[in-house]
Amino acid sequence: MNKQAIVGVLGAGSMGAGIAQIAATQEHQVVLVDLNEQALASSEAKLKKILARLVEKEKIDEATSIAIIGRINFSSNINDFKSCGIVIEAIIENIDIKQQVFTQLEEIVSADCILASNTSSLSIASIASACEKSDRVIGIHFFNPAPLMPLVEIIPAVQTSEATKNTARALIDGWKKVTVLTKDTPGFIVNRVARPFYGEALKIYEEGIADFATIDWAMTELAGFRMGPFTLMDYIGNDINYTVTETVFAAFYYDPRYRPSFTQKRHSEAGWYGRKSGRGYFNYAEGATTPEPNKDEALGNEIANRIIVMLINEAVDALFLNIATKEDIDLAMTKGVNYPAGLLRWADEIGLEDILLRLEFLYAEYGDDRYRPSVLLRRMVRDEKTFYS
Ligand SMILES: NC(=O)c1ccc[n+]([C@@H]2O[C@H](COP(=O)([O-])OP(=O)(O)OC[C@H]3O[C@@H](n4cnc5c(N)ncnc54)[C@H](O)[C@@H]3O)[C@@H](O)[C@H]2O)c1
Repeated sequence: MNKQAIVGVLGAGSMGAGIAQIAATQEHQVVLVDLNEQALASSEAKLKKILARLVEKEKIDEATSIAIIGRINFSSNINDFKSCGIVIEAIIENIDIKQQVFTQLEEIVSADCILASNTSSLSIASIASACEKSDRVIGIHFFNPAPLMPLVEIIPAVQTSEATKNTARALIDGWKKVTVLTKDTPGFIVNRVARPFYGEALKIYEEGIADFATIDWAMTELAGFRMGPFTLMDYIGNDINYTVTETVFAAFYYDPRYRPSFTQKRHSEAGWYGRKSGRGYFNYAEGATTPEPNKDEALGNEIANRIIVMLINEAVDALFLNIATKEDIDLAMTKGVNYPAGLLRWADEIGLEDILLRLEFLYAEYGDDRYRPSVLLRRMVRDEKTFYS
């Protein structure tokens, strides 16, 4: 697909507007459709503000900024997708609505138009099933904020043709994004492998081992993550993060590894969503003080090690089940959520035997399947192998 191809984006919310900005910056004509006129107006205003800031910072010049906004046709008429080479859907996360929309899209676009979904948690196969020509449907999952985060997960459904997969991936690679190929399974790569970052942190808190501030301190200062789990959940929003956890848990047939937490559920029920509501695990009201962590290194290391081995176990299991290649699993976590290192490379550095021992200790101590080591980890330790030579 070349630069002449018109890119359609459905949904002018935070993701849709960001995707439209990327495509227009890459010199495509873009049609950005939203049924809500207010959402359209607000996305146009926001985009102009972002571009003005880029001009101010001398990242682009004035002429480029005018050209980018000029390439986007803000529209409330879905029929304007008629001449698009690809339409990327970024509307509300609801399978019934997405299916209806995909059926409708197929009636508007040409026979060779690719139809993509930016869904975070729904199955691409079920979205594709709403189309007659389901082999043209694919998942193209951007991360928030889309113009800044380099990673894009490419998710072919069982119905997706090789041609659709190759064209879609080449297009997004051409937009200077880092693409990884992943199986159409719950959470794809990032939202699956990252679960323990939140879940194990919450469990450590619930057991009374440490408070939010201490766990965040351990994960940033000792483990090198950019944000601690509680600061990050407050940033994402506890309502959203909880829903993703619950969706992934149900989608994995209630595997205890993904069991949600009452602490997060209650925070969400209380309206303590995080930054956007002024209060989450931390208080964001003006003048509120940030709690001091307990900077006990032994305690910090215990916390960090426990979360890291759980993350590594998840990454190993994703590799075991052929969700993606080892390179793509590592790229996904460093480029999609800024992890300080790829988890499989990190596993080699720590030593697989050491990781297995720690997991086996937790498994024996808790008697909970949540801590069962991945079969691949056991095999690799038995065969004295590493992920990278
Ligand atoms: N927000 C994130 O961090 C994030 C990250 C990756 C993927 N996603 C996924 O991207 C999608 C959009 O998320 P978002 O955060 O941008 O949502 P959002 O609520 O900010 O925006 C959704 C937009 O879609 C519009 N819309 C809803 N139904 C529509 C319809 N039938 N036709 C046209 N427009 C319609 C709404 O008016 C709204 O402007 C979801 O599938 C979500 O799971 C979100």
